[in-house]
Amino acid sequence: MKISVIGAGNVGSLAAMRIAQEKLGNVVLIDVLKGVAQGKAIDLEDAQVLLNSDYSITGSDDIAEIKDSDIVVVTAGLARKPGMTREELLLKNSEILKNICNNIKNYASNAIVIIVTNPLDLMTYLALKLTGFKKQKVFGMGISLDAARFANLISKEVGVLATDVDACVIGSHGEGMIPLAEFSKIKGEKLEKRLSQEKIEELLKRTVNRGAEIVSLLGSGSAFFAPSAAIAQLVKNIVQDQRKVVGVCAWLSGEYGINDVCTGVPARIGRNGIENIVEFKLNENDQNLLIKSAESIRGLAKQLPL
Ligand code: LAC
Repeated sequence: MKISVIGAGNVGSLAAMRIAQEKLGNVVLIDVLKGVAQGKAIDLEDAQVLLNSDYSITGSDDIAEIKDSDIVVVTAGLARKPGMTREELLLKNSEILKNICNNIKNYASNAIVIIVTNPLDLMTYLALKLTGFKKQKVFGMGISLDAARFANLISKEVGVLATDVDACVIGSHGEGMIPLAEFSKIKGEKLEKRLSQEKIEELLKRTVNRGAEIVSLLGSGSAFFAPSAAIAQLVKNIVQDQRKVVGVCAWLSGEYGINDVCTGVPARIGRNGIENIVEFKLNENDQNLLIKSAESIRGLAKQLPL
């Protein structure tokens, strides 16, 4: 397997490290800034003896090096600054994505493409349209990260291990994010058994705001440890053909009553990318929120360079 990661910033280089160290394939790290991807790749290579592990990673500033990749992860683009929404990155990151997508189309026409660049739902839509690849092969990483954040917040509140919590988030990886209390469980039990309605509401809000909380603490740049772990999880699902249900940003054609919008939904991920989208029976309130958020994404999509 050849796995290329475009963008050697914090998210991209850590994702490359996790993918390489888990031996999921031969990793190629790409960045337009001369020397950066090469330097990071050499540094990661040097760690092999210390980790007592052999893996393959190379770096380049030449995007042609993604040639014939099986998977391409796109992390390139600007990160938000404190006080910004992800949506405010739309115009600048669209231009960056445009160029990258043309190269993916030319050099890696059979690849599965995982978009990470924000605003996620819109950049995934842009990548799908610009590459012209099948809808199963272009999707975004966002709500699996949000679900992990929700799970962590629940676990801290209740005093259980994060891995004892199964949390679920649907919709936009942005302002319209919808953490689903109803589909989240603590050791298999409903949240209401351990948390008051008020507490649940508070945790939902904190989940939506978690990325911004980290951005404001960091002062510059955005989160990277959990985002890179969420990327590695998706790549692992594909490489090992796990067919597990994970939240991804997918192009919808009627699922959840939504058409021609990319947004976060649960999907089975395997060797072919999205094997199928899973339709939960949402309560009326969450269903309405999802439609509203999809309409807002559709509105913003008019600004995409398509
Ligand atoms: C975040 C970025 C990856 O949520 O959108 O931290």
